[in-house]
Amino acid sequence: MNTMLRLHEESPPPGEEDTIRRLTELMRRNYERAYPAGVSPALRGVHPKSNGCVRADFIIDDGLPDELRRGVFREPRVYPAWVRFSSTSARVQSDMRRDSRCMAIKLLDVPGEKILDAEKDATTQDFLMANTDVFFARSVADYAELMAAMGAGKPLSFFFSCAPPRLRLRELLNYASALLKPVRNPLHARYWSQTPFRLGERAMKFSVVPRPCGAPRVEVEPGDDALKQAVARQLERGDWMFDFLVQLQTHPTRTPIEDPTIRWSEDVAPFHKVATIVIPAQRLDQPGRAEFEENLSFTPWHALPEHRPLGGLNRARRAVYEVISRLRHERNGVRRDEPRTLRAWRGRAPSSAQPARYP
Ligand code: HEM
Repeated sequence: MNTMLRLHEESPPPGEEDTIRRLTELMRRNYERAYPAGVSPALRGVHPKSNGCVRADFIIDDGLPDELRRGVFREPRVYPAWVRFSSTSARVQSDMRRDSRCMAIKLLDVPGEKILDAEKDATTQDFLMANTDVFFARSVADYAELMAAMGAGKPLSFFFSCAPPRLRLRELLNYASALLKPVRNPLHARYWSQTPFRLGERAMKFSVVPRPCGAPRVEVEPGDDALKQAVARQLERGDWMFDFLVQLQTHPTRTPIEDPTIRWSEDVAPFHKVATIVIPAQRLDQPGRAEFEENLSFTPWHALPEHRPLGGLNRARRAVYEVISRLRHERNGVRRDEPRTLRAWRGRAPSSAQPARYP
């Protein structure tokens, strides 16, 4: 056991900053190859395929125990929110192909200074998740090695090779389960943060679980865009709800900060419900919404200091998301700013927009 590790604290390995610089540069080059200057629309570097972007309410529970009442969970209240469902692959591909499915939440109207220097005044807090609970790289150095192996067309060499002899079994299992886990309707899936974050002075991971609310479950036949159709049809039938749960770190090695390939077992770190997400019945195809969605930027670093991202992979995400998102907005010739109110979207909608219960 590594006795140097302390509960709730990060322990960056020596040289990590250089590795992050190299990784960011690699991802920037990959993005510029995919979307050279003059090519537009430029999509997200990963997660370009949308499975639906929906308006939601994020309702903080009343009566939370004191240790959970930090950051956005401090007081019972309702945050308006946007939720984007996506598939991970860097290419927009058929939903018939295997891929991990993800959920990104952006809370609006969040008071308090935010972490990013350029966006201290933003009023948003983002939560990004995937549909499995563990990541497939332990460290930034390993992630950079995987990216290089993928770039060379030999992704499997990251997981096993003869010379030098190597087997990264846990990483392979995590990677395979992310690709193979079936999702028929993104609203019916469970999602996890995989990496840890601050909850005040402590560390947490978070997860979102669908909550039965009496609505009949809608599934559609498999097809190229079946996931978005499934979300659309479900929300035509009525509201949908999720519970938002947090899991507190309880042990420096059994619930590690620096290695997101290790599951935080619920035996040692049980989940606690802190909020309810209500996605009201709505139409996804409203005028202006697709454009609004394309211009959004999600990053785990859109956060209050009380929810600061923790661990190496999250430290790497700080620069990578910002660089790629800036390039994307530059290529598309659009302003890059955080939405302040739901009206920001309404204002951009063409005048033919139908009056709707929710934007
Ligand atoms: C070092 C590890 C990671 C890197 C380098 C990375 C990189 C990226 C990049 C470049 C984007 C596109 C951002 C944009 O253009 O606005 C993105 C989007 C996203 N990432 Fe990651 N990511 C990492 C780990 C993760 C993890 C662990 C999760 C969740 C468990 C995650 C979930 C997402 C989601 C949900 C989106 C889409 C956000 C949206 O809907 O716009 N990523 N990621």
